[in-house]
Amino acid sequence: MAEQTKHDIIESNVGLLILLIVLVVSVGGLVEIVPLFFQKSTTEPVAGLKPYDAVQVVGRDIYVREGCYNCHSQMIRPFRAETERYGHYSVAGEFVYDHPFQWGSKRTGPDLARVGGRYSDEWHRIHLLNPRDVVPESNMPAFYWLDRPADASEIEAKMRALNLVTFKVDGKPPYSDADIAGARKALEGKTELDALVAYLQGMGTAIKTAR
Ligand code: HEC
Repeated sequence: MAEQTKHDIIESNVGLLILLIVLVVSVGGLVEIVPLFFQKSTTEPVAGLKPYDAVQVVGRDIYVREGCYNCHSQMIRPFRAETERYGHYSVAGEFVYDHPFQWGSKRTGPDLARVGGRYSDEWHRIHLLNPRDVVPESNMPAFYWLDRPADASEIEAKMRALNLVTFKVDGKPPYSDADIAGARKALEGKTELDALVAYLQGMGTAIKTAR
């Protein structure tokens, strides 16, 4: 047999191999991940990004409740095929107010990261109640029950919870006491459809795209 090299020693010694792999992966991981916690571009909102208002907070919760994320991602990858179709690729600073984020990767339907402003409110309302009315070949389910009053009963608690977990500009949380006190009023007379459309129309609009 040929002479044993250092590599042979490592490869024939499982304990040592595991130890060295763990070491390499840890160092590699730390070098990649730790700086992200300190980089402005990953922790600060992009210019013009606004926290979700009370109506959008409710709309976002409806998006989660209805499982829209099962078919729609909210993350445009930095590849030409994606940016030509959807617009500017997504950047971390667009998601500082998203708890939990809705990036996803399943795309039965198109990515929605920049759907804000692409269609009219009326288009969305018709589309959500029955997609086939505007896109005949669509296989998206009809969410016909959304034309009912939005539930505002927990909005204050939701906003206070978001204040705890979300990004703070100059140490200040996104919602002031006045915002929270006015939330119920803002939701008066709003349907679930109104709330969901308000959320969709804000999506990805902080970064202007040429589309
Ligand atoms: C079973 C998969 C599925 C689910 C669940 C689903 N969608 Fe869709 N969605 C699609 C498909 C497929 C399309 C493309 C055809 C069309 O426009 O209807 C689409 C299109 C869309 C579009 C138009 C996007 C564009 O750029 O043209 C919007 C907006 C949208 N969906 C919102 C939603 C919302 C909000 C929910 C949750 C209430 C939802 N979808 C749930 C499959 C789904």
